[in-house]
Amino acid sequence: MTALGPRVVIAGVSSGVGKTTVATGLLAALAARGTSVAAAKVGPDFIDPGYHALACGRPGRNVDPWLCGPAAVGPLAAVPAGGPTCSSSRA
Ligand SMILES: Nc1ncnc2c1ncn2[C@@H]1O[C@H](COP(=O)(O)OP(=O)(O)OP(=O)(O)O)[C@@H](O)[C@H]1O
Ligand SMILES: [Mg+2]
Repeated sequence: MTALGPRVVIAGVSSGVGKTTVATGLLAALAARGTSVAAAKVGPDFIDPGYHALACGRPGRNVDPWLCGPAAVGPLAAVPAGGPTCSSSRA
């Protein structure tokens, strides 16, 4: 079992509803306050992690059970640990 630090999941009902907009704003606001924060995107996408990285200055990552298998989700999600993690997900 992988221990995960504090995190927030930003979810939406479909594509284009604003998950990345909200997540990127939160990341930038937290980083501006001096909070160490990083993001993980659920799904095969490199554009959103790019926005996440620009907003908080730490690499954006992808965590997706279909791509990597459920067993890898915990360890991958723990990689950005060291501060709160903001995850963007489609619900
Ligand atoms: N750079 C941009 N300039 C103008 N509008 C944008 C830009 N990026 C996104 N939008 C618009 O803002 C809205 C929200 O987009 P956003 O990328 O936050 O949605 P999302 O829920 O993250 O989508 P996805 O599931 O595809 O990642 C959409 O209408 C989108 O077209
Ligand atoms: Mg998005």
